[in-house]
Amino acid sequence: MDRRNFLVSFVKLFFAGLFAAVCSVVFYIFPSRERTQNIRYFYLMDEDSLPRKGVRKVDFEYNGEDRTMGSRVYISASDKELTAFSSVCTHLGCFINWDHNKKEFICPCHGGRYGIDGNVTAGPPPAPLARLPLEIKDGKVYIGMKI
Ligand code: FES
Repeated sequence: MDRRNFLVSFVKLFFAGLFAAVCSVVFYIFPSRERTQNIRYFYLMDEDSLPRKGVRKVDFEYNGEDRTMGSRVYISASDKELTAFSSVCTHLGCFINWDHNKKEFICPCHGGRYGIDGNVTAGPPPAPLARLPLEIKDGKVYIGMKI
């Protein structure tokens, strides 16, 4: 490869990398409408069954693209708010459990711990538990899932 071909290749590679970087920034700043539209709501429970205080585990089924799926969420009720947390640990994806005595979520895999507000209190999880959208309509509670 002579010097001229090397420079032409280098310039092409530079602009391809620059284009990829600019696209990444644009997609980060302006997420596609499709991603935000993929949340579907599924029946979770009757409103009367919501916990008044503390945490309740809820197993439920929903219709995915081609089959019925099972999932688990934790509904946390405090004086201030009602929150639905994903049961998936943010470290490596194990399923967490709620410990009623210690009043915290515990991950059995690597000892990750989360408070009742979903924030990390100990261990390796890099982020709080994911919050899932809740909707209450006509006495029924629905949970939003990205499908
Ligand atoms: S997967 Fe939960 S702490 Fe590692």
